[in-house]
Amino acid sequence: MDRNAPIGVFDSGIGGLTVAREIMRQMPEERIVYFGDTARVPYGTKSQDTVLRYSRQIIRFLKSCHVKAIVIACNTASACALDTVKRELDLPILGVINAGARVAAEATRNGKVGVIGTEATIRSGVYTQEICRIRPEVEVIGKACPLFVPLVEEGLFHDSVTDEIASRYLSCLKGKYIDTLVMGCTHYPLLRSTLMRIMGEEVTLVNPAYETAVELKGLLSELGLNCESKNDREQTGLQWGEQYQFFVSDRAENFTRFAKAILPREVKDTDQINIEEY
Ligand code: DGL
Repeated sequence: MDRNAPIGVFDSGIGGLTVAREIMRQMPEERIVYFGDTARVPYGTKSQDTVLRYSRQIIRFLKSCHVKAIVIACNTASACALDTVKRELDLPILGVINAGARVAAEATRNGKVGVIGTEATIRSGVYTQEICRIRPEVEVIGKACPLFVPLVEEGLFHDSVTDEIASRYLSCLKGKYIDTLVMGCTHYPLLRSTLMRIMGEEVTLVNPAYETAVELKGLLSELGLNCESKNDREQTGLQWGEQYQFFVSDRAENFTRFAKAILPREVKDTDQINIEEY
């Protein structure tokens, strides 16, 4: 396996950019191939079989880009597909749920954790299972927030419509006096300020993206797959191409605009591919 190969990262749309952003910050030398399935978003309202089929296609595409590892930067696909694809794949692969569950289990003081996510993620019960495996006494209250993904994909991060919908979704969690809230969908950190304002400062918001990047870094160094430093690379005179490559299944221009606004590094154009061919 080539340690200088890129890391494959995927999501149903722009949400996974919140994970890519963390990888860029924590591992600035690494290369990334990102795929956002913008033609088929949202995943959260679809069946497990459909999300598994989509995930397999995307993994085949990322393998064709010769990635060295894959991050499922999508809670829904992590909940519906990770266990299965992990058994099928000859590459290291990780999702975002374990990291988020671990942080939440450690963060809660009163033992009441809220998890917000897509319908498929909440229905899977994976967060509850994982948090209770670490701390069985914790009470986990899940709440599906299906309108958040379209609001984010439409760019309505700060909008009165978003405020109204968020207040309604979160009222049941406030009523349960949770002290920790997991943003169990990679789109949701883009609504962070709204969520924080509604829940109040005493509630800790958990963004699994940060810990996922920490976990990835550990995994790559364990396997000897960390990218060489820029200096070492330059000495070998290798041709690198773009450090970050972005692919989507629809509306490439829209995606590029978002990526430029969200990411800390330079973003070139996005390519559109037909994912059904994989
Ligand atoms: N951002 C994804 C997640 O973390 C998927 C949202 C969706 O497509 O419904 O669950």
